[in-house]
Parts: sequence; structure tokens; C-alpha cells
Amino acid sequence: MEQYKLFIDGEFVDAKDGKTFESIDPGTGLPFATVAQAGKADAEAAIAAARRAFDRGDWSGLDMAARIAKLQDFADQISQQGVRMVLTECMDAGQIIGFAKTLVMWASLLLRNLAAYAATKFPLEEEVLASGNPFSPGRDYVRREPVGVCVGIVPWNLPSTLAMWKIAPALIMGNTIVVKPASNTPLTALILAEAAKAADLPKGVFNVLPGPGGELGKTLCTHPDVDKIAFTGSTEVGREIMRMASDTVKKVTLELGGKSANIILDDADMDLAVEGACFGTFLHQGQMCESGTRVLVPSKIYDEFVDRMRKRVESYRIGYQLDPTSHMGPVVSKAQLATVEHYVNLGKEEGAELITGGKRVEVKGFEGGYYYAPTIFANVDNKMRIAQEEIFGPVVCVIKYGSDEEAVAIANDSIYGLAGGVFSNNIARAERVARGVRTGTMWINDFHVFAEYCPFGGYKQSGVGRELGHWGLEEYTQVKRIHVPAFSDRNTDFLFNLLSDNKKVEGFSYVCPTAVIAGHGSLSSICKAVVEVGSRRALILTDPGVRKAGLADLVKNALGDFCVGMYDDIPQDPDLESVDGAADKARELQADCIVSVGGGSVIDAGKTVCVTLKGGGKANDYINRWYALSEPQTPHIVVPTTAGTGSEVTNAAVITNKTAGRKLFIADPRITPNAAILDPRFTMTLPKDMTVGSAMDAMTHAVEAATSIMANQICDGQAFQAIRLISENLPLVVADGKNEKARLNMQIAATMAGWSFTIAQLGLAHAMAHTVGTLHHVPHGAACGIVLPHVMRFNVDHATSKLALVAQALGVDAKGMKERDAALAAADAVEALMEKVGHPMRLRDVGVPEEDLVRCSLHAIADSNVLFNARPVSDPMEVYNLYRQAY
Ligand SMILES: NC(=O)c1ccc[n+]([C@@H]2O[C@H](COP(=O)([O-])OP(=O)(O)OC[C@H]3O[C@@H](n4cnc5c(N)ncnc54)[C@H](O)[C@@H]3O)[C@@H](O)[C@H]2O)c1
Repeated sequence: MEQYKLFIDGEFVDAKDGKTFESIDPGTGLPFATVAQAGKADAEAAIAAARRAFDRGDWSGLDMAARIAKLQDFADQISQQGVRMVLTECMDAGQIIGFAKTLVMWASLLLRNLAAYAATKFPLEEEVLASGNPFSPGRDYVRREPVGVCVGIVPWNLPSTLAMWKIAPALIMGNTIVVKPASNTPLTALILAEAAKAADLPKGVFNVLPGPGGELGKTLCTHPDVDKIAFTGSTEVGREIMRMASDTVKKVTLELGGKSANIILDDADMDLAVEGACFGTFLHQGQMCESGTRVLVPSKIYDEFVDRMRKRVESYRIGYQLDPTSHMGPVVSKAQLATVEHYVNLGKEEGAELITGGKRVEVKGFEGGYYYAPTIFANVDNKMRIAQEEIFGPVVCVIKYGSDEEAVAIANDSIYGLAGGVFSNNIARAERVARGVRTGTMWINDFHVFAEYCPFGGYKQSGVGRELGHWGLEEYTQVKRIHVPAFSDRNTDFLFNLLSDNKKVEGFSYVCPTAVIAGHGSLSSICKAVVEVGSRRALILTDPGVRKAGLADLVKNALGDFCVGMYDDIPQDPDLESVDGAADKARELQADCIVSVGGGSVIDAGKTVCVTLKGGGKANDYINRWYALSEPQTPHIVVPTTAGTGSEVTNAAVITNKTAGRKLFIADPRITPNAAILDPRFTMTLPKDMTVGSAMDAMTHAVEAATSIMANQICDGQAFQAIRLISENLPLVVADGKNEKARLNMQIAATMAGWSFTIAQLGLAHAMAHTVGTLHHVPHGAACGIVLPHVMRFNVDHATSKLALVAQALGVDAKGMKERDAALAAADAVEALMEKVGHPMRLRDVGVPEEDLVRCSLHAIADSNVLFNARPVSDPMEVYNLYRQAY
């Protein structure tokens, strides 16, 4: 008899306690090899070897190419052992020889194919181009690293294949592994160990410990040095493994039992379906976890189908597994034979109708073998135990059903969800049924089909995780995120500053992607702007007011052939529906860029249309997402017709979500428009109240940006210049709306204010204005203007010098004034400007009910803008007092 030893740390060794056991040929019932039987001490030695090997890094630390080269040597050595592996697998596991050949061949193919996939297609390092976190900019990337020491526990039905399902991904991804083959079938794993030794894999990377579960299994599943367990076997043992692994929180992948349904539809090709039903059950004597052991047959073809199945299985030749004429060999062991007999008796007791089989078979010359006739039970109720419990032998239950829906319901009435089949001549119908079954794999007009690049694993109690393909490789990796900040300095880190008294954030990154073309007649440059972004088919987006003022038609004429259409249905404070309507129109006209002509409402809608066009779907898919876009969006050119929001250069789009009852926004550098044309002709038709309101919006942007904790030198330059331009030019445009020079200055001011707050954020005035806008429909610019002076006074001791500079920009003669007084004078100057241009001065004038101020305070304090306010805001009473002052 051949003798086999344990494989630990690169050497074949006896068990520490000298124990051995015999491997039995199930076709004869006779032993044919003795095998060292691993115990606790051997498990500890193997785990220690695997741990040392992993920690040494001469495998886990190799680069992928070097590791793959070594694994190719391993695959070559396995191929050299091919004939021996096939014969040994047959004798050990009872597979018929033809089947064993395909399985053994697959073991080395699988290793090579998965290795090639990992080398060429599996990303070991991935950049996260858009992290979604605007507060902590920098580089984020993700590494896939090995898990560590893995344990592979392999069942007896397909020993070499299922061992390789674990060995290949584990080793490819840089782990080390201890394999425990089933005690019924220990041999081919040890032949794989010989191949590994011949290929000179580093010591300890691959270890094999034959033996029964018990103490050995417990040691493997509880040892603190084991990082992952991959198990294939029964659900009962899987549960126990999960329990044992939980103490040290190991990663587990479990591929467990099944009671898969093979659904025959009434339009199936009868010959094919009968073959599929029988092959699906009786391949390898039914000892396949994915076997289709519940055949679901429609009542109208039921009797004929059962009869044809009977004829087919009665034609199977049962014989010794090495006899090439055998269709079915023995079951794996005496114990398994007893289990099969137990279930057949149970089926009879439960009232199922035994159609054929139900008995042992004696094979001449192999009388000691464990042969059992293929067995069909008909008229099985799905509630019966033979339909609910996994038998793992040549027994099939044929269950009758009425409609497709009923078939799916029966298929799903199981604790398992491993695999299944559908047979039909109508592939679309079969796919519908397949999609309804809650299971990890569905085959249509086929069964038992595996592929290295397709995942396998179970729903429900059939398992955890997946084997094979990309999904299987992932299971043998850990995911590590690495973040490298844009600045390595405590004062530039917004989050560090949370615990610091000095909230001021130093440092910034400045992205300025918008090309600004400003001046009288600058509309002439619009076609060039379209060409510059690589487009030729522009859709104009606008709103009814702007169209009525003749502005959209001006742009249409300037675009000439480049204009493929116009969408003029954007409302003020645009909602999701209007964005979706515009995106549909753009798709219909195959527009390749958007030209927004209007104020903040149209431009924000345009930004969102661009994102929706690029990414597909609906506007709501993109709202309330920050810094989530990783590539350029559909090009966007804007012609602002108000001078307020600065939206033409900002990275934000504000969209009303009626269901949420709020304005929500996208914040992302990728939505900043490509080009902005500031032509004063476009703001000359703006009514006086809009001129004033939008100017105060821009003023608030500039003042809040300059005083925010994120302010920086570039923001300051833009903000102070914007404030100066507004304070000088707003009275002029209010006095004479046709003053082109002043109108242009107002546009430029709004744009600069937009840049300033994009780089430095806003503050409490915006939080308060958003709140009264949302709750009481106060126009945004008006609300901003009313609360701004009060917030400036509130901030006076936290932004004294900045506010003093604001005063200068507003034209205050601060000579001789103390800095704090100058800062306070800035607030007075804002009020004086507002009075001069006829801006509303109190919240009571714009429809805010006094009794609602408390609620407004609570809402405002939750607005994200307060995070950046110069003075920390945490007490709703303080906000309430400000609302009162502004009332
Ligand atoms: N994206 C950002 O950075 C940002 C910043 C602040 C505000 N916003 C948003 O911008 C929107 C407000 O934008 P807005 O203040 O520019 O106003 P708007 O775009 O809502 O336009 C207001 C009204 O003025 C009319 N109008 C505009 N230009 C005109 C012109 N030249 N002649 C005659 N009528 C004209 C419009 O038809 C409309 O009825 C709000 O939804 C707000 O949330 C966005």
C-alpha cells in the first residue's frame, strides 16, 4: 500500500503522535493507501510555518509577476502528475474516470487562468479620483493586500478541484495556506504538495494536513494566527466553523449545501430537459453540492416527463469507477451509503412515490463497493424532508407545479440557494424565471457548468462569499485605503482645527477651470467657446423671463448652425423635473454641449443637466452628492443674465427636491462651467428689484468668503475687489439700468465673489438666508442682505481686521479709527448701501412671521455653512437674537 505523509513547512513528515489512517477505495470497499493523520500539534506546526512564511514576506511581499512565474512552475508540476492524480482521485473519491480526468485537468488550468487574470486585470492599486469628502482633500487610493494565513477545508466529493479553488486564489494574492482535505479523500491534495515541493514554492507557503475534523478542525478554525477560513462542505459544519471563527473574528468564505431546483418549463425541449434533469442529479452519484435534486415539472407534462426520466436513468450503467464504460460509480463511503438509504426510507414513509431505484446495486467483481441505484421519487411535496434536506446521493425528487410563478415560489421555498436550472425553448421566459430564484447560480438549458472567470457561491444558508473569478480573488484580499492629505500641516487641516482654538484654516487649493470672456459684445466669442470644448451641437437652456427679454434669441442667432434647439422651461429655483425635461430634450436632439442663458436658476439647472447627460439616469441620482465625480462632464458654456450668484464660475448647483421639501445641492469641481461670457447687454433688462437683490447675494458671498475660516490670499483679492465694485456700481445701475460700464462691473464683481466663496466657503448669513428662503420663500438675495450686517457685527471680534478691510472696500474712511470700530463701520456701510438702493431692511418686510423665528434659528444652526463662520456658532439662542435684530 502506498504511504502518504503530512506536508508541513516544505517537508513531508509523520504525524507528531505517529497516527495514521487508511484511505478506502469506495469501488471495492478496500483500503489502498495509508496516510499520516494530523492532530492538534501538527495543525499548530503547520499554522506556525504558514505564519512565518507570510510574515517573512518572501511570498506575500513578492511582486505579482514573480509570484505568478512561481505558480506557473507549480502548474507545470501538477500537469506532470496528471495521470497519477486522475487514478488516485478515482480510487479515493469514486469519480468515474472520464469525470476525474476533466477535474484534474482543470486544477492546473484553473491555477494558470486565475493567475493570468490577476496579473493583467485585477487592480492591486486603485486611485479614488473623487473621494466624496470636500473637507479633507488629497490623494486617496486603495490597495489590495493579502489576508494572511488561510485555511482551506476541502470536501470529499471533488477533492483536487475544490482544493485548487482555495489554493489558487490564496497563493496568487500572496497568502499562505494550510489545506485540510477530507479524511475520506486525502490523497490528491498531498500529490499537489509534491508538485509544490518540486516547483520549489517557499517553505511554509503551502501545507497539507489530512485527517478528520474534530480536534484538527477545531485547532485550524480557532487558532489566533489564522486569518481566514475557506470551507466547502455541509451547512451544518459551515455553521460550526462560523461559530468557531467568530472568537478571533476571522474572515470566512463558506460554500455549503444545496437543494437546487431544476425547473422544467412546459415549452422545454423534452429530450434536452430529461437529459438535463438526470445529468443535473446523477453526475458523480449526486454527490455535488449544486445538484438539481428537486426537478420541478409542470402538471400537464408531468407523467410523461417522469416516465422518460425513469427510462433514462434505468439506462445508466453502474460499475467500478475505473471501468471506462461506467456511467455511475460508488458513493464515497459506507456512511454515505447509509445516509442515502436512510433518506430513501424516509421518502417512502413521507408518502413520496418511488419510481425507480431505491436499492443498493451489486457490481460483479466489486461486491464490497458502495453502489446505489439512481433513485427517482415522484409526487413529492416540497414540504417533505426529502425535498428540504440535502441527501448528497443519487436521489431526485420530482415535484409538480402549475404556473411559472408557482415554480419560482417552490424553488425559493428552501433554506438553501446555491444553484438551479431552467429548461425552456423561450430564453427570455427562462431568464425571467431564473431571475426570480434566490440562488447564486442559474443555468439555462444546462447544468453543472463552472468557469474560472464566473463566480460560484450561495444565497441564504448555502454560503458566504464567492469562489472563482474576480469575486473569488477579492475574497483573498484585504482592502486598505491610504490617504495622503493635500497639506501636511496642522493648521491647514479642517478636521484638526475642530479641536483647536484657532479655527482659521491656512492653505488652499485653487481650481479655476472657467474661461471668462468679459466685455461689451463678448457674445461674439460664443462659437469659439463651443469649438474649444470640442462640441458642435449646443442646446440653449433658458427660462421664460429671459426668453421674453429677447436674450435667448440673441444667443441663438450668435450660435447659428451650432444651435440644435432651445429649452426654455426652467423655473426660478429649478426642480428635478425641469432638469430631467431639459436632459431628455438634449438627448433627443443629440446635443453635445449646453449653453445656459439666464441667472443662477438656469445655470444651476444647466450644470445638473450636464452631469445627467454624462452619467445617464435622472437628476435625482446626482443631487446631494459632493466631490463624487471623477471625470469631465458634458461641456457647459454660460451667459449670465443676472449679476449675483456667481454660479457661472462656482462648483455648486442648487436644485429643489420637492419630495424632500428642500433645496439640495451638488458640490463638485467637475460641474464648474467651462466658459462664461460676461456681456453687459444681458443684464441691462434685469428689473430693479432683481438687480438689487442679486447684488446683495454677491456682496454676501464676498463678505462671508473673506471672513470665513477658510479664507486665503486669493479669496481675499477677489472678495475685496468684488465688494469695492459692488459698492461703487450698484447705485449707478440702480440709477440707470442702461449704464453698460456699471453693468459689466457688476457682472465681474458677481463672478469674482463666486470665485471667492468657491475657494473659501460661506458663513452664518447664508445659513440664515437659506432657512428663511426654504421656510418662508424669502428671495435669497433679499434675505442675505437683511441678515448680513447683523452677522458682520456678531463676527466682529473673530474677524476684526478682515471686516476693517471690508469697510475700506466699501469706501469707509477709516483713517484714525480703531480696527474694531472700522470693522463695525463695515456693517453700517452695508446697511447704508442697501438703504440707498432701496433694498428691504427687515425680515418683517419680506413676509417672515415673528412667531417662527425660534424654528428658523434651529434650522439655521444645522446648515453646513455655519461650519465656516468666523465665530463658532453653537447656541441657537445666538442665532435667534440675530434673527430678532434683523426682524
Ligand atoms: N450655484 C451657485 O453657486 C449659486 C449661488 C447662489 C445662488 N444660487 C441659486 O441661484 C438661483 C437664483 O439665481 P438668480 O438670483 O440669478 O435669479 P434667477 O436665475 O432665479 O432669475 C430670477 C428671475 O429673473 C429673470 N431674469 C434673469 N435675468 C434677466 C434679465 N437679464 N432680464 C430680465 N429678466 C431676467 C428670470 O427670468 C427669473 O424670472 C437660486 O436658485 C439660488 O439657489 C446658486
